[in-house]
Amino acid sequence: MPRPIRATISSAALKHNLKIARRFAAGAKVWAVIKANGYGHGLLRVAKAFEAADGFALLDFVDALRLRAAGVQKPILMLEGFFTPQDVPFLEKYALTPVIHCVEQIAMLKGRDLGGQIDAYLKINSGMNRLGFSPDNMLLGWNTLQDDPQIRSVTLMTHFADADGESGVRAQLDWFKQITHSLEAPHSLANSAALLRYADETRADWVRPGIMLYGCSPFPDQSAEALGLKPAMTLSSEIIALQRLQPGERVGYGFSYESAGAMTIGVVACGYADGYPRHAPTGTPVLVAGQRARVVGRVSMDMICVDVTGMSGARVGAPVTLWGDGLSVDEIAMHAGTLSYELLCRLAPRVPVVET
Ligand SMILES: Cc1ncc(COP(=O)(O)O)c(C=O)c1O
Repeated sequence: MPRPIRATISSAALKHNLKIARRFAAGAKVWAVIKANGYGHGLLRVAKAFEAADGFALLDFVDALRLRAAGVQKPILMLEGFFTPQDVPFLEKYALTPVIHCVEQIAMLKGRDLGGQIDAYLKINSGMNRLGFSPDNMLLGWNTLQDDPQIRSVTLMTHFADADGESGVRAQLDWFKQITHSLEAPHSLANSAALLRYADETRADWVRPGIMLYGCSPFPDQSAEALGLKPAMTLSSEIIALQRLQPGERVGYGFSYESAGAMTIGVVACGYADGYPRHAPTGTPVLVAGQRARVVGRVSMDMICVDVTGMSGARVGAPVTLWGDGLSVDEIAMHAGTLSYELLCRLAPRVPVVET
């Protein structure tokens, strides 16, 4: 018998969240971003749930080929383009749209027989200083792609560094427009945060939502629920043991938690080897039989300890929700000093996945 832990993935929630993205996109086309194993939800599973998207955006050629092998015919955007000259023949063969972001990629393409036509994205660095052409080498990229009859279309894209934060998108958007104003092409700008908060300015021709599709909020000051999003992944388990503590007794590795009074500890079958954040401190919420309780002491590899003092349903076998339905993963991430992105992506392979 497997341990009681499992991740339940709701395809209804995934579909619902895509509908919300579409509403904000208001006619712009939608790349469903499904990199990192569909943000931990399973690549093929999310591709199926997002069949109403206009295309899929990801990173790895292996993943793109898995989608094609599974019969996916929609456009696939390779968010980091290609990595070596050996990758280039795969572009036309598997109808992949590379994001071309540097002169080295232009050099790998130049003069190559691609075997047919491909669409391409040209990524502009509008201030994030991660990937993308700057104004001084942008025209080299643009002209090379324009002059190559094997390039069917070029879309200009950029990525916002702080659409979810205080800076917003204004400065990057202005800079992007200023440096690209003479180039006639469709645009793709918005991630989830830009789409949700600055839809009118950023939706352009193609949007690229990721995290919102999985039911999480990109914003620290606005919950997923308030945005109308539904959690797609619920991580749940059970209490496997109870401990009655006297005042002054301590809990877990390092004895880091000491009971102030008599208390009952529920030991839950979930630890950092399942993807639960080791840095979740005492006080991080969990749901025990539907009621809020709190983690106490250190998270260990396979277990966490929860204060269930006085809780009626707290018995061995009681259901526990670590995150998901009724307890947002954003809240757990905030307690652990990270983001929902990281928690979702780090769901461990050992956790059985159930689809609903
Ligand atoms: C280029 C690009 N576009 C879109 C996204 C989706 O971002 P989010 O998950 O914040 O919506 C990402 C994710 O990192 C990205 O790198």
